[in-house]
Amino acid sequence: MVTTVSHPLVQHKLSLMRDVRTGVKEFRELAGEVSLLLAYEAMRDLDLTPERLSTPIEEGEFPMLSGKKLALVAILRAGLVMTDAIVSLVPAAKVGHIGMYRDPGSLLPVAYYNKLPADIAERRVFLTDPMLATGGSASAAITLLKDAGAQSIKLMTILSAPEGIAVIERDHPDVEIVTAAVDPRLNDHGYIVPGLGDAGDRIYGTK
Ligand code: PRP
Ligand code: URA
Repeated sequence: MVTTVSHPLVQHKLSLMRDVRTGVKEFRELAGEVSLLLAYEAMRDLDLTPERLSTPIEEGEFPMLSGKKLALVAILRAGLVMTDAIVSLVPAAKVGHIGMYRDPGSLLPVAYYNKLPADIAERRVFLTDPMLATGGSASAAITLLKDAGAQSIKLMTILSAPEGIAVIERDHPDVEIVTAAVDPRLNDHGYIVPGLGDAGDRIYGTK
């Protein structure tokens, strides 16, 4: 299942990210802001339980987050800018990291690191990566999370390609994708078209 967050603020900020004139500082800030807005949608179904407390005026029952605790997991490098932003909304969440890069020749993911919360099986997992292109990286990361025991996973991306969505739907039909936009296609180098370029390079100012 794919949820596209079509809110005007998200779409405006995404267009600024696409713009080749947008520099590193602004791109990074925009990626964080879009991530917060995506999290608002991705976390829409978190459990709430009424708890008794007193306002300065009166005692009452008020909704508080309950249920499974959360884990944010970033696919390095680019997913880091997303978890860094989202953790400000859910400061009790644990944060995991999966190091993965796409081999430029084969376009296949190469895993080089992983450090996950030990109790990931008991947590709702939000996996972040700004780009879902061929889907190889995200699919491999989800397999790794499932092998570690994760049972409830949502994938948050800023930009997705139909090819990547099809791979996740084929390999992991239980995983919902929350994204800001789905672009028409990939080019011969596996880049999303029109896309926004190489997310990691634009966030970190590398080439
Ligand atoms: C980018 C992006 C995804 C991956 C998407 O990372 O952040 O992880 O490519 O491509 P895919 O869907 O075809 O697998 P990259 O490999 O450039 O690594 P980086 O974040 O370290 O720059
Ligand atoms: N990774 C990126 O950073 N951008 C793309 O368009 C595809 C993969």
